[in-house]
Amino acid sequence: MSSQNKATVSFSDGSPAIDLPILGGSSGPDVIDIRKLYALTGKFTYDPGFLSTASCNSTITYIDGDKGELLYRGYPIEQLATKCDFLDVCYLILNGDLPDATQKTDFDHRVTHHTMVHEQLQFFLRGFRRDAHPMAVLTGLAGALSAFYPDSMNLNDAHQREISAIRLIAKMPTLVAMAYKYSVGEPFVYPRNDLSYAGNFMRMMFATPCEDYKVNDVLVRAMDRIFILHADHEQNASTSTVRLCASSGTNPFAAIAAGVACLWGPAHGGANEACLTMLNDIQQMGGVEKIGEFITKVKDKNSSVRLMGFGHRVYKNYDPRAKLMRETCHEVQNELGLHDDPLFKLAMALEKIALEDEYFVSRKLYPNVDFYSGIVQRAIGIPVPLFTAIFALARTVGWIAQLNEMISDPEYKIGRPRQLYNGAMRRDVQPIQQR
Ligand code: SDX
Repeated sequence: MSSQNKATVSFSDGSPAIDLPILGGSSGPDVIDIRKLYALTGKFTYDPGFLSTASCNSTITYIDGDKGELLYRGYPIEQLATKCDFLDVCYLILNGDLPDATQKTDFDHRVTHHTMVHEQLQFFLRGFRRDAHPMAVLTGLAGALSAFYPDSMNLNDAHQREISAIRLIAKMPTLVAMAYKYSVGEPFVYPRNDLSYAGNFMRMMFATPCEDYKVNDVLVRAMDRIFILHADHEQNASTSTVRLCASSGTNPFAAIAAGVACLWGPAHGGANEACLTMLNDIQQMGGVEKIGEFITKVKDKNSSVRLMGFGHRVYKNYDPRAKLMRETCHEVQNELGLHDDPLFKLAMALEKIALEDEYFVSRKLYPNVDFYSGIVQRAIGIPVPLFTAIFALARTVGWIAQLNEMISDPEYKIGRPRQLYNGAMRRDVQPIQQR
């Protein structure tokens, strides 16, 4: 990572110039190492939103926003999404390489045999209203896990981190399915050890005690692909939240709960729910004929209307996950005979118009993973409010791997950014009669 290159910072106020090392990675932009900047100059850098800031040195996920490239541990997402299953990808993201046959059998067995949750956890759900948003429930349940597993709470113990990783990956599908069943007043369905990870989730979501649940392989494959496409994504908002939260030394369950809470936002993981709401609104307005009217609102700076599912902080080309998600859409609709799904047709019409519109082209706003993921999930039968909870289920492995990488970095310390202060100067408290 070291490099002979350096950046020289000179100051017009006569302060002495300083040299800062430039560090290069295996791919992507070099970084200017500013760790000594404050000590040398008494000055901070300023970068709200971190558009020009590398927060860490990572080996997990690489994104080339201009090329529309996404690699997990060097493997292209297109190959992982078609040649692997989600647990292969979990093993890869956690351990740095794909499992061999023995490693896969062992990992799958361990995850499968940790899918049950403590029976007491179901009573947490009883405290929520039936119409509570699933992300409110999942934020609570993820944090509540820290009250049940005292043997895997110490973040600084690699063995305890490994146990909590298996527990979290294994139990998130069960918790998401429980949140759904609670919302519809159906009994919770226990996991089954003879089903795949995605098949188990689909059964816990849709089975009832009244009849055997028939697993549909096309829908299970689509769900598994949705998990793969959402597994990790470099230093996005929720991952950065997990890293910052874990840097205090809190337990892994609390750190993941923080990630769930951040992902909920409509600018981030909540975009798939917001995107489907947007498509439904346009459909209510009159469908394809009303797209122009909607796009006009989006361009109007006075309206807060955004084209949900479009744009990305990093991708300034097509999000490769959106392409794969659109293919999955076609597969699911063919399987379910939904060729004339009006929302899918509306989404494709909206995408076509937006990709030709100068407003979006000039701002490099392309469809992101959330644009089609909602349509696929809706076709599978997932209720809209549950979309982001499924995103959180999938992203849990990425959050854990990023947390592990940070904790294992000998240079890591508690994250504590500084600020540019523009508040009141020092002043004295006056008696209330004089205020
Ligand atoms: C995810 O970070 C990740 O990796 C996230 C994620 C992951 O896997 O973890 O990829 C998952 O969160 C995907 C993004 C989902 N969000 C949405 O689809 C919500 C809609 N998109 C936007 O809110 C927005 O595009 C962001 C938040 C995603 C990115 O915003 P930026 O990079 O901060 O860009 P910006 O808000 O400064 O916008 C730049 C310009 C502005 O116009 P001008 O002020 O220059 O005139 O583009 C406009 C914005 O108004 N713009 C949009 C728009 N997104 C940006 N205009 C209309 N519709 C949009 N969607």
